[in-house]
Amino acid sequence: MAHESAAEQKALIGGVFERAAATYDQVGVEFFGPAARALVGATRPTAGERVLDVGCGRGASALLAARAVGPTGAVTATDIAPTMVAGLRSEAADLPWLTAEVGDAADPPPGPWDVVQAGLVLFFLPDLGAALDVHRAGLSPSGRLGFTWFGAADDSWADIHGTVVQALPEKERPPITVAREGDFASVERLEAVLREHGFGRVATEEHRITVTLPAAQAWWDWVWSQGFRVVLEAHERLGTLEAVREQVQPMLEDRQREGRLSWWTDVRVTLARP
Ligand SMILES: C[S@@+](CC[C@H](N)C(=O)[O-])C[C@H]1O[C@@H](n2cnc3c(N)ncnc32)[C@H](O)[C@@H]1O
Repeated sequence: MAHESAAEQKALIGGVFERAAATYDQVGVEFFGPAARALVGATRPTAGERVLDVGCGRGASALLAARAVGPTGAVTATDIAPTMVAGLRSEAADLPWLTAEVGDAADPPPGPWDVVQAGLVLFFLPDLGAALDVHRAGLSPSGRLGFTWFGAADDSWADIHGTVVQALPEKERPPITVAREGDFASVERLEAVLREHGFGRVATEEHRITVTLPAAQAWWDWVWSQGFRVVLEAHERLGTLEAVREQVQPMLEDRQREGRLSWWTDVRVTLARP
């Protein structure tokens, strides 16, 4: 991402998720649900509270928060991808105290918010410190910021992921490692950044989430439906998708035969109060 301007980075990421939105969290793979439950388990919205959920996607954590705050509370959910927002609106038809709008996680609607939550999104922002400042300023006196991000992951799939990425010419490889680099390289580093930006009480817990694919073909549905899609789109653009599919398919079928269609990652949940 280092070579992109902030605006280009936002457009690239927003575009990938916009095109993924139709199948995002809809392909029968349980991942975003458990991650959202871990997030809302930490932010713990209660009846009557005001919650902002940024980078809401199709609402995995915003819907849980809306049920927790009930009709005396309010949830505002924002996402950069309009089709994500539309998906959440249709899911939330029976929750009129939840509103979903297109919006940038770095430029939130004004508070005060009792809870700001951000599920698997802050690592996409070009200036994390500026975003933390603006979210801290929007919190009520008892407010808390909770967000999820990635820890360690099962690297036994590196052969398949590596084959798909390395089949692209180097200059065409998207910067997909952004989520585990820089300020997001370790708990110590991220918590230090939070303290530098005025969050005094900070704690991080870790949850291991295991994804089990029902069959080899499901791997393709799963990767098209989330951020890794950016790599497949690059192959599509270059006309190399079919060739890489032929390379990877036997590897997937080996895994299926050997009963190795599971993958895990640790999801970290950080809760921060000013
Ligand atoms: C990995 S998904 C997580 C979605 C949701 N929070 C969940 O847990 O299912 C990342 C989401 O962040 C959104 N996103 C990326 N950059 C954003 C930004 N600058 N502002 C708002 N949303 C953004 C994407 O459109 C996508 O819906």
